[in-house]
Amino acid sequence: MAMVECQGLRKVYRDLVAVNDLSLSIGEGEIFGFIGPNGAGKTTTIKMLVTLLRPDAGTALVDGKCVIREQEEVRKVIGYMPDFFGVYDDIKVWEYLDFFATAYRIERHRRPQIIDDVLALTDLTIKKEAFVEELSRGMKQRLCLAKTLVHDPKVLFLDEPASGLDPRARVEIRELLKELRNLGKTIFISSHILSELADFVTQVGIIEQGRLVVSGSVDDITAQLQPFKRVTVRVAGDTAPVVEVLQQVPGVRNIESEPNEVRFEFEGEDGGFAGILPALVSRGCQVTGFGEQEASLEEIFMRVTRGAVA
Ligand SMILES: Nc1ncnc2c1ncn2[C@@H]1O[C@H](COP(=O)(O)OP(=O)(O)O)[C@@H](O)[C@H]1O
Ligand SMILES: [Mg+2]
Repeated sequence: MAMVECQGLRKVYRDLVAVNDLSLSIGEGEIFGFIGPNGAGKTTTIKMLVTLLRPDAGTALVDGKCVIREQEEVRKVIGYMPDFFGVYDDIKVWEYLDFFATAYRIERHRRPQIIDDVLALTDLTIKKEAFVEELSRGMKQRLCLAKTLVHDPKVLFLDEPASGLDPRARVEIRELLKELRNLGKTIFISSHILSELADFVTQVGIIEQGRLVVSGSVDDITAQLQPFKRVTVRVAGDTAPVVEVLQQVPGVRNIESEPNEVRFEFEGEDGGFAGILPALVSRGCQVTGFGEQEASLEEIFMRVTRGAVA
């Protein structure tokens, strides 16, 4: 069963369609990267999924519960980290967490342990007695994440958790998200910077002007948008025989050669691809390396979004 599922979600602000017919499905344990430029509709979508904004059309289920008719049920299973950290004066880190634990109706005797656990997870144990306003921005962000974990939610919705952080704090957030993934949480995370998410998401959705332009597993999207392979062959000695062999292979194109290296593109069946290396070797080419160069998610993103953003 999908952990987050929406069909035809729509939200209109006066005459602006902020989210337009958005459908997606995220399985349990997936890390879904929701990527799009500022103003694309990410926050609006997330607010509908976390029951803070009522969709104008469409449906959404979180853990099988409807965000419109079963708001209370949905809230029990989600953790939501907004893009804006509110101001809390004169409150200590542990009090802040205790406040949210109370709001989630966690029994008093269980709260101290839970607070210690989420502080340890977010690496804030030494700040337990500090005042919230004394924390660095990165620490505040981690505290905000700690807050979303007190009721042990199944699904986390994190709206641009790394924005405005310095590089070190970004890395820390990333490490923390990896830990949460290992705990089996489903994570829905937005960003306007793809590279922030590219190395650990399992699914991606790219949103532009309220529309989901691409979504799916990272591998599927790569395959869908780049139906050909880019291959590099390294050789000891002369590259001319390699080029000669490649020119005869159906599906090979754009051959470029440099000393000790030949690059080409291949479009066709895996069976045909599998025959290339043996053909080179049987013709006496001294192959020292043969490998497919993977298109980065970044490259794909640029290709997909060129249209609407420009
Ligand atoms: N409360 C609001 N009233 C009117 N327009 C809004 C409101 N919130 C967001 N918008 C507009 O809706 C669009 C999507 O905004 P948002 O969901 O915040 O995008 P993102 O999070 O991707 O930056 C933007 O054009 C924004 O200006
Ligand atoms: Mg936003």
